[in-house]
Amino acid sequence: MSSENSPIREKSPFESHAEVIVRMFPSDANPAGNVFGGEILKHIDMVAGIVAQRHSQSNAVTVSMDSVNFLKPIFVGNVLSLNARINYVHNSSMEIEVKVEAEDIVTGIKTVTGTAFVTFVALDKNGKPMPVPKLSLKTDDDKIKFEEGKIRMEKRLQNRQK
Ligand SMILES: CC(C)(COP(=O)(O)OP(=O)(O)OC[C@H]1O[C@@H](n2cnc3c(N)ncnc32)[C@H](O)[C@@H]1OP(=O)(O)O)[C@@H](O)C(=O)NCCC(=O)NCCS
Repeated sequence: MSSENSPIREKSPFESHAEVIVRMFPSDANPAGNVFGGEILKHIDMVAGIVAQRHSQSNAVTVSMDSVNFLKPIFVGNVLSLNARINYVHNSSMEIEVKVEAEDIVTGIKTVTGTAFVTFVALDKNGKPMPVPKLSLKTDDDKIKFEEGKIRMEKRLQNRQK
């Protein structure tokens, strides 16, 4: 692993968290008005990427996406809020958790419609994995999510395809 741009300080999950708001249009959905899963995945990947790049301050690429759950349907016209936070870091890898909430803008009703975990790897200028800042765990929630993220990452790597 390259030590170029080696991080110098720890960062808290709060420092990199991100929220993206996006409205769903007919081109995002099937003829019945249900938004495509792939459209949601695109936004999950994008908001998780913002968190990974904020934390690492480098180029960061998606290496895996897992535990993707579409819990409720999303319809044309809904306003999506995608909240993302970093749970766990190892050396170059970062686990980002994303929660998707859909709002019916007429009724104001908000529903959690999906969740996912996305792993990013930080790359240096030569495209090689590079170390990212360690996580400064400020809250009990930060500590719990770190430990849970560590267990998930170990399982991910056991199942990793070379
Ligand atoms: C990311 C990439 C550079 C990693 O290359 P690699 O040869 O696996 O590198 P390494 O074995 O040194 O692993 C680097 C890190 O990735 C992690 N990693 C690799 N595969 C993983 C997986 N499936 N799930 C979770 N983490 C993974 C390793 O655990 C390691 O983490 P660490 O540094 O924190 O210990 C390479 O897989 C790649 O370029 N993938 C394509 C990325 C991309 O283009 N994404 C966009 C979608 S196509």
